[in-house]
Amino acid sequence: MEEEFFDKLREKVLPYFEGINPCHDICHTDRVLSLALAIGEKEGADLEILKVAVLLHDVARKEQDESRGEICHAERGGELAWEILREMGYPYDKIVKVVHCVETHRFRNEKIPESVEAKVLFDADKLDGIGGIGILRATSFAGHIGAVVHNPDVDVENTKPYSKDDSAYREFFAKLVRVKEKMLTGEGKKIAEGRHEFMVEFFDRVNKEVRGEL
Ligand SMILES: [Fe+2]
Ligand SMILES: [Fe+2]
Repeated sequence: MEEEFFDKLREKVLPYFEGINPCHDICHTDRVLSLALAIGEKEGADLEILKVAVLLHDVARKEQDESRGEICHAERGGELAWEILREMGYPYDKIVKVVHCVETHRFRNEKIPESVEAKVLFDADKLDGIGGIGILRATSFAGHIGAVVHNPDVDVENTKPYSKDDSAYREFFAKLVRVKEKMLTGEGKKIAEGRHEFMVEFFDRVNKEVRGEL
């Protein structure tokens, strides 16, 4: 794909990220892009489809946040991807492939990633939530909602998301520990194992620090 097209597309999606929570801003998309290309190369993905899909994958995230979850950003993102790419004169057969990736990149909707590009996007997107960057993102989110810095004795069953208990540590037990089991590509799984191990070591150290052991 011509670099020019890609630059134009990035320009076009920028307004969709204005004022969004930093966990899902354009920097997240850029990180997912770097990782997706690295994984995609090893998994034999079509890098053009992958690149376009990554740029568009969270284009409806703001709409989901503003509707308090009523709008599914994967589904709505698929619709917006159609509109944006049609307007740019992108070939129909390629749009179909991109839309499949966008529609299936979410953990929770019923649409399952089937193409290799969709699987790579799914993995790269979830990987941005774990490891060192995952801890930074979860901490940023916790700060945003006024949660505590750390709660070493957290009981996940008795705490709620979006509450003062929703620290990065809670997020770790509630969600992040299971990301590695959800990977769809071999390369994604490998990276997830390493990032998972880092989070375990990191929180282990933090717990020792707060107990006065380090
Ligand atoms: Fe997303
Ligand atoms: Fe994302």
